[in-house]
Amino acid sequence: STSHFMLCSFQILLKFLSQVTGYVGHNVTLPCRFIQGKESSNVTQSQWDFLSPDGNKTLIMVFNKQHGKSVLESHLKGRVDMDDQLLQIKNVELSDAGSYICTINNFPLGTLESTTKLHVQGEKNINL
Ligand SMILES: *[C@@H]1O[C@H](CO)[C@@H](O)[C@H](O)[C@H]1NC(C)=O
Ligand SMILES: *[C@@H]1O[C@H](CO)[C@@H](O)[C@H](O)[C@H]1NC(C)=O
Ligand SMILES: *[C@@H]1O[C@H](CO)[C@@H](O)[C@H](O)[C@H]1NC(C)=O
Repeated sequence: STSHFMLCSFQILLKFLSQVTGYVGHNVTLPCRFIQGKESSNVTQSQWDFLSPDGNKTLIMVFNKQHGKSVLESHLKGRVDMDDQLLQIKNVELSDAGSYICTINNFPLGTLESTTKLHVQGEKNINL
């Protein structure tokens, strides 16, 4: 996988992976991490949306500094959690494949966004 950085005002702000592979029946983690620059700032809200291969965008989960975590109605409900900004998907299914958009609202920097493509493979090959 390739590591990407979003650059803004010569500071690295978001660290994420552009592609991640998950395996059916296994767990997968999609990283998205805000990196504090020189100036003080706070992440007020972070969220993940799912963009299906046919272009349907669905809000999966939100973490708000004041209101905490909320999981929305989606095919991933019951199988997702957030730890800081990263998204954990449990018991991966083939239909989980697609693009996942991590959006971070930061005060005073504004909104930062990254996209991670999740590929799903049927079976983890344990025979080398
Ligand atoms: C997936 O994560 C859950 C808890 O988060 C754990 O109980 C389970 O064993 C994990 N499954 C695999 C296949 O690692
Ligand atoms: C970030 O949050 C802390 C604690 O709530 C606060 O003291 C600080 O002023 C905030 N910084 C900005 C830039 O809002
Ligand atoms: C997007 O999802 C909604 C709700 O799940 C569904 O009704 C709609 O047909 C989908 N649109 C496309 C283009 O797949």
